[in-house]
Amino acid sequence: MPRPSFPLSRPARLAVFASGRGSNLPSLLAAFPPRIDEASGEELGSVVLVVSNVPGAPVLDKASAAGVPALELAWRGRAAFESAASAALEEHRVDLICLAGFMRVLSAEFTARYQGRLVNIHPSLLPLYPGLAAPQQALEAGAAESGCTVHFVDAGVDTGAKILQRTVAVLASDDATSLAERILAEEQLAYPEAVRMVLTGAASHDGRPAGHPS
Ligand code: GRF
Repeated sequence: MPRPSFPLSRPARLAVFASGRGSNLPSLLAAFPPRIDEASGEELGSVVLVVSNVPGAPVLDKASAAGVPALELAWRGRAAFESAASAALEEHRVDLICLAGFMRVLSAEFTARYQGRLVNIHPSLLPLYPGLAAPQQALEAGAAESGCTVHFVDAGVDTGAKILQRTVAVLASDDATSLAERILAEEQLAYPEAVRMVLTGAASHDGRPAGHPS
């Protein structure tokens, strides 16, 4: 996968990796249609591949329904998954990988290989509440607000450079489910906007301005 520096002189080719429902896929498909047509006028990019590490994950059906190649790579160890995923990324000439409810930790080698071209969304205002069950963590901490963060992926867990955050209030009536649902609603706005920032060069993993020689 060539190391493009954004902005590209052509529509970017996006891949989405997910392990479950693919809650973020519809908003990414709406923002970056699988087939760029004149009507959409979307020049920034299109989703060209969806990958799941879970056989039969609902995200695969969502991809197929949208006419996007849906690749099921059952997790048989990290090395095997990353090898097959890398081959698919090359085959589909992917420029940017969007993790969206992808519940596995990728290797330092993989994240280094795709540095600047690998992003993730997390349901908290990082660095607060990294890892699993972030909405529950916020509730248990008595937080007055939480939200979501789109960030570049580095070798750590939820530690890469932040791209964009959106905030929600934590209500006294909230439980983990209601808070997660309200955060998810903000994610639908945050993810496409963050991807646009990356594709236009407005956000980079090392904070250098757009067009900076990489
Ligand atoms: C979202 O909360 C997202 O922030 C996190 O995973 C959740 C989506 O999972 N990364 P799914 O797509 O509903 O399985």
